[in-house]
Amino acid sequence: MSNPDYKLLESQLCHLLDGETDPLANASNFVGLMFNAIDNINWLGIYVLRDDDLVLGPFQGKPACVRIPMGSGVCGTAAATLQTQRVADVQLFDGHIACDPASRSELVVPLQVRGQLVGVLDIDSASPGRFSAEDEAGVERVCNAYCELLAESPRFI
Ligand code: SME
Repeated sequence: MSNPDYKLLESQLCHLLDGETDPLANASNFVGLMFNAIDNINWLGIYVLRDDDLVLGPFQGKPACVRIPMGSGVCGTAAATLQTQRVADVQLFDGHIACDPASRSELVVPLQVRGQLVGVLDIDSASPGRFSAEDEAGVERVCNAYCELLAESPRFI
């Protein structure tokens, strides 16, 4: 297993979204690009903030839970704290929401556009401890680039 070149991924994302302003199309391509670039993951997708819930958006992987209240699970914790959650063993995370029982580790990055929380990017792996500090920094880097590209859009999705 090799980690992606996150700097290259950022540049690929900029090219992929260049010239398109539709936020749903861009979110879908963001997810498709990330899912195919990161090894050893079984789910990757966006949960979108709608009022006080995170609602399932574009994703790759098995069907997942649709609605996560703010503060619940790994995703809701990332959203409520505005802190990336890197969980080596989801079975040890109090309140973890198991959508796919195969998932064993998880990385969730809050997405903020113009300083406002708009959702989270959630990545699951069937391997415990899949995500390193390097993955965390790299995924945050690509998420930040994505949020900056969205800053001109009238809405997030
Ligand atoms: N495990 C997440 C729920 C979403 S799924 O993993 C796709 C959580 O605890 O918030």
